[in-house]
Parts: sequence; structure tokens; C-alpha cells
Amino acid sequence: MLFRYLAARLRHRDPAVVRYLNMGLGIERRARLLAPFWAEHLARTRAAQARWVENATGDWLTVLGAGRLLDFNGPAVLPHFNQLRLVDADPSCGASWQRLEKLAESICLDISACLNKWIAEAAQFRGAWPETMSAISAYGTRAEAAYSVPSDALLSLNVLSQLPIVWQDGVEAILLRRFGKHFVAAREEEWLDALRPGGRMLVEQHLRAIESASPRFVLLVTDVEYLEYRREHLGVKYQRRHFAPPPVDWSTAGWSAESGVTCEVSPAIESVELTKSSFSHFLPSYRLLWEECWLWHISPLGTEEGDSGKVHRVAAFALEAG
Ligand SMILES: C[S@@+](CC[C@H](N)C(=O)[O-])C[C@H]1O[C@@H](n2cnc3c(N)ncnc32)[C@H](O)[C@@H]1O
Repeated sequence: MLFRYLAARLRHRDPAVVRYLNMGLGIERRARLLAPFWAEHLARTRAAQARWVENATGDWLTVLGAGRLLDFNGPAVLPHFNQLRLVDADPSCGASWQRLEKLAESICLDISACLNKWIAEAAQFRGAWPETMSAISAYGTRAEAAYSVPSDALLSLNVLSQLPIVWQDGVEAILLRRFGKHFVAAREEEWLDALRPGGRMLVEQHLRAIESASPRFVLLVTDVEYLEYRREHLGVKYQRRHFAPPPVDWSTAGWSAESGVTCEVSPAIESVELTKSSFSHFLPSYRLLWEECWLWHISPLGTEEGDSGKVHRVAAFALEAG
């Protein structure tokens, strides 16, 4: 894994590409280290695809955010399509794609079609802090057409929530370089607020790009909520190799937690609610067939750095045109 990463790093020096190489390495490394905890999320993502192809079928299938195919259910999905197009911004994914027989197109690009440009522009800002904040929040009005390609079916595979994260990470690095760690840390709420409109725009453009590509079948899998938890008794921690369930749970009534556990919940995808009515706004040509959601104990307390654990709530939405 490391050898492949280093070889890719030698070939790709553009910071816009290195960003995705690092992200890919991080995902692969964590998926191995935390395999017992990630297994259920990966299985639920694959199961949602198996349910989707009970009626989704056609010639071309496009997968956005294909990555290392960790969460792709090839055996269930591929028999329903003739040609496969895999898309990801990380050029090191190619190694995981080669073995797929139906692979007709491998595309390495930024599906937002603007993130790299936005971050490169933000690196050129020269104004003081208030002007920098206004310039960042102005990205909320920069409507851009995201990558969109005709196909019969489209699978957006755990990539939507990454778009605002890449925006945030890119701008944070710029702010730290320009204003210094202490100054930026003291104004965290302010710069996070300034980033939100642009993040929201990235999410909305992804949905609009699906509408304009007009595949008959869509499966959208994405994080919808993030939860960070802490324990009163710091000694109670998880071990990487020994599965134990998370100390929190979710139902339609909301979140619940074991006693002695405190939680902070924040929306993923910039509070864009994925409900029947919001789908009819962003994807007016589609109807929601079904949805499922589950928890991903992405960083159990004690298995990675820091004094908190992290759980994502992930949802899958199956949509059909017409
Ligand atoms: C959380 S991973 C999803 C897991 C992935 N399906 C896998 O099995 O490795 C997100 C994937 O989206 C890709 N990604 C993130 N932002 C992207 C962008 N703007 N354009 C294209 N791909 C992007 C990353 O490179 C990564 O492979």
C-alpha cells in the first residue's frame, strides 16, 4: 500500500492531486486498521446496492467516488450492466480497478469540477481577515456545473459528503499558512461559518449534476450526520482488533447514548436535507423509491488519536426517473 502511494507521489506533484492521494491512502490504511468496526458499514453499503439492482439495470453504469471499491458490490451489481465507468479524483485507485472485466472507462477527475479551482483561487487571496472571510463565503453564490455524464444508472458512492470536507481542508491549510495556528484556532467558528455557503453549493451542484445526467436509476449513498462522543471514564476504550458495538444508537426518534457518554451531533452535507421534498427540488425528474440508514463507527474511542470517538450516520437513497 505504502509503496503504491510513494510511486504515485513521485508521478503526481500537483497539490490538487496530492490531496486525493493522501485521502485515498488514509481510507485504505484506516479500513485495514479498523476492519472489525468498518465491516458493518461496508456490508450495509454493499447490501443497499444489491437491493438497488433488484430493479436497476441497463447498458452503462457510472460510479462516482469509486475509490478502492471497498464499498462496491461488484458481484451483485455488475451482472445488471454491460459497461462500467469508474470515476474518482485519486489517480492511485487504478490499481484496484484493473481486475474488473466490464470496466469500459476509468476517469480520474474532480467531480465537483470546481474544487481545485476554488482552492487555488483562495490561495491567492491577499486581503486582511475580514476580506478573506467575505471572499470565502462568496463561493456560496458561485454556481458551477459539476461533472455529469449520460448513463443508464448512477451510483454516488460515499463521495457527496467528501466535497465540503475537501473544501474545508483546502481553505484551512491556506488560512493556517497566512494567519498562523493561534489566530485561526481562536476564530474557528467564524471561518467554519464562512466555508458553509460554498460547501452547500458543492452539495447542491452534485445533486443538480445527477439531474442533468438523467440516468434512469440512481443510488446515492452519503454521510448525513456526524456524531462525536466522549466518555466520563476515559479508561473505557475500544481496541482495534476487538469489535464492540458503539456507545450510541440512532432511531427515527433521534440519538441515544450509554450513560456516561456525551455527544455532539452535526449535520453532514451542509444541512442539505435529503427528504422526499428536497429531492423533488433538486432532482425534480426523480421519485424516491426507498431509503435506508445505518451507523458507521468510523473512529472508535481509543483506536486513533484524540480523546473522542466518531460515528457517522450514513444513508442510501434509491431514486428512479419518471
Ligand atoms: C470515503 S471514500 C468512498 C469510499 C470509496 N468508494 C472506496 O471504496 O474507497 C471517498 C472517495 O471519493 C473520492 N473523492 C473525494 N472527493 C472527490 C472529488 N471531488 N471528485 C472525485 N472523487 C472524489 C476520494 O478520492 C475517495 O476515493
